[in-house]
Amino acid sequence: MGVSKILERLSTGVKELDYLIGGGIPRGFVVALTGEPGTGKTILCIHFISQGIKEGDLCVYVTTEESRESIIAQAKQFNIDLENAVKKSKLVLVDALMGREDRWSLKSLDMEELVNVVIEAKKYLGYDRARLVIDSLSAFWLDKPAMARRYSYFLKKVLSKWGFTIMATSQYAITTSDAFGFGIEHIADGIIRFRRFVRNGVLRRYLLIEKMRQTAHSLVMHEITIIDGKGLVILGPTTQRREDVELPTEVIKRVKRAKESKEAELE
Ligand SMILES: Nc1ncnc2c1ncn2[C@@H]1O[C@H](COP(=O)(O)OP(=O)(O)OP(=O)(O)O)[C@@H](O)[C@H]1O
Ligand SMILES: [Mg+2]
Repeated sequence: MGVSKILERLSTGVKELDYLIGGGIPRGFVVALTGEPGTGKTILCIHFISQGIKEGDLCVYVTTEESRESIIAQAKQFNIDLENAVKKSKLVLVDALMGREDRWSLKSLDMEELVNVVIEAKKYLGYDRARLVIDSLSAFWLDKPAMARRYSYFLKKVLSKWGFTIMATSQYAITTSDAFGFGIEHIADGIIRFRRFVRNGVLRRYLLIEKMRQTAHSLVMHEITIIDGKGLVILGPTTQRREDVELPTEVIKRVKRAKESKEAELE
């Protein structure tokens, strides 16, 4: 029997999710969160950082889609105080949206500038275990999707030396080629895919672990929800139900009726 090496795992901040991935994200991993808008990617990033602050990890959060203030306000709704963490130098919130001139703002969505600022932030915070969120990473190759793979490889190579465990979001755009979505996915050590469907007029959100290296992770899609004052909650596993794959009964009936009347006409 070989010697099994037990991996150090970092809690995502959502206990039920940790359970689905064998106890947490292995230290040093790059995990990609992919999926449609409004499915919970940013909220999971906030949980991950909040957990890091709780555990005394050094945290860097890069936001490209929302301002620094917006992330702080969103976290507040789940009773997470990011402002205080910034004040106490436990967190650096890098704003890549507003184009401000301060030390922790990116002037443009440039990969090299991103890496430099993250390293600077790490030096400023100190030399402990660290967590990094990049929300979103795909924003850095929006206008050059062919660069996606090279950029994410560069990022992983450089930042792995700095003690980070990384969560990076990646948006899919149906209108662009596969290159858009598949920049980070092969390089990532883990992929958590977020999905959404409307069932009976109600928006439902789901999450599926598509990849987590060195982990016997769950293969079942789980329904999730976002609760005010609490954040992301895993409701439970989904099983393949008929209504998930079939058209609504009323639609089926109408199709059948139309088909029958056509046949009647032909007789
Ligand atoms: N306080 C709250 N209470 C309940 N639900 C909330 C609360 N705040 C946000 N939400 C829900 O979370 C959704 C936003 O989730 P989130 O920002 O994580 O999406 P995302 O996957 O990051 O989307 P995008 O790709 O557009 O950035 C909102 O549309 C809303 O439905
Ligand atoms: Mg988001």
